Amino acid sequence: MPHDLVIVANRLPVDRVTNRDGSTSWTRSPGGLVSAIEPVLRGYDGVWMGWPGGTEQDLEEFEDDGLALVPMTMTAEDIEGHYEGFSNGTLWPLYHDLVAKPEFHREWWESYVEVNERFAAAAAEQANENATVWVHDYQLQLVPRMLRELRPDLRIGFYLHIPFPPAELFQQLPWRRQILEGLLGADLVGFQLPGGAQNFVRLVRQRVGHKTHRDLVYLPDGRTVRAAAYPISIDAKGFETLATSPEAVTRAEEIRVALGNPRRVFLGCDRLDYTKGIYARLRAFSELIEDGHFDVEDAVFVQVAVPSREQVEQYQLLRDEIERLVGRINGEHGRIGRPAVHYLHTSLSREEMAAFYRTADVMVVTPYRDGMNLVAKEYVACRADDDGALVLSEFAGAADELRQAWLVNPYDINGMKAALLAAYQADEQEVTRRMKAMRKQVTQHDVTAWADSFMSALADTAGSSHEKTLRPARRS
Ligand code: F6P
Repeated sequence: MPHDLVIVANRLPVDRVTNRDGSTSWTRSPGGLVSAIEPVLRGYDGVWMGWPGGTEQDLEEFEDDGLALVPMTMTAEDIEGHYEGFSNGTLWPLYHDLVAKPEFHREWWESYVEVNERFAAAAAEQANENATVWVHDYQLQLVPRMLRELRPDLRIGFYLHIPFPPAELFQQLPWRRQILEGLLGADLVGFQLPGGAQNFVRLVRQRVGHKTHRDLVYLPDGRTVRAAAYPISIDAKGFETLATSPEAVTRAEEIRVALGNPRRVFLGCDRLDYTKGIYARLRAFSELIEDGHFDVEDAVFVQVAVPSREQVEQYQLLRDEIERLVGRINGEHGRIGRPAVHYLHTSLSREEMAAFYRTADVMVVTPYRDGMNLVAKEYVACRADDDGALVLSEFAGAADELRQAWLVNPYDINGMKAALLAAYQADEQEVTRRMKAMRKQVTQHDVTAWADSFMSALADTAGSSHEKTLRPARRS
């Protein structure tokens, strides 16, 4: 049955996993995109198309927890060329300031084009006449144009969840023009920060030659495309409710006791990704112990590293490096029953995460580059008592909004040490003053506000030839 709203993302909100006994089940997919879009879909009564994470070819449309889901199949070659290759071996490092070296392979590009074509064709089938299609993220940048060619009646939005790089970096891409033209198929192209939108408009002017004015691009066929920033957020109320539940209170106490009741608990929680700056933050923490500022009775570090992109070599190397470092730190500074770093290579449920956020006195979020970083916002949402210190990288999109965090440059280890120490030593008043201001920001700008502002800007675009305007069907 066709729908009035179609969400197109690389992943479904759930992954199909094969258990040890050969049976299959569904688990929640990692990453911020899923956390952000799920409440939107519930609010607008649409369908979500995406890849369930495996190579099964026989999956039908289904419902999970009240969400209508359309699984997109991928072959092993698609995964290698489109997902691990072009998306995560080329675009991911290129869009994250070359934190790792991007690789440019023509076969990866071909696979990217093919998979984008398949997604566009499937979206065209799922969409009602004059429907709204919202395409997400860097894995699907060609879909807007392909979809417009198939279905000119649709209103098409695109949102990029990761940074959009400056022209100086983007223009390395051999297929830069195709990507820009792909995105220009949308009526509205959304970015995390104004800088990303400006980079895009400038590139369109320079590389494609279209006329632009501020956030508008004028296409030769008379259409206009708007490029603007819509900083993404979280379900702040939902996180606060989880973190203040009696279960979370009890669980947080259990965690603290299990950690040996230290004076301060530091917490990091990230997908195990080289952009996240996990290595540098652990080094900074261990040097503070070495320098005698505190020992393992005073402070421990809990690092949750969510498994991610495990077939990509850079990620395998990173895991080895971090695990070697954790071993070294614990070998040098730990005592029996008292490691300095508690390292968990696992994915935790939202309930368990809320309990960890509740336990953490200092939350450490230090990416080298990050579109937004929702972990930082989740932590703030969970601190209902206005306590807890956030150490945050200047290079996370969230730093634009969470100005009262202890902001750090993750490339500067001494600066990071100073910030961790300041957060560790800060008095209650100081911590509360900062947290209060950050909580105001996060609660007033939650994911619903984000989605509504994107959707109403999309509804207001002049590019589509129809008048149908999508408004929320219900709010959960
Ligand atoms: O935010 C960027 C992103 O790639 C999202 O698209 C995704 O939800 C998340 O990171 C996790 O990545 P992956 O889908 O590769 O596991």
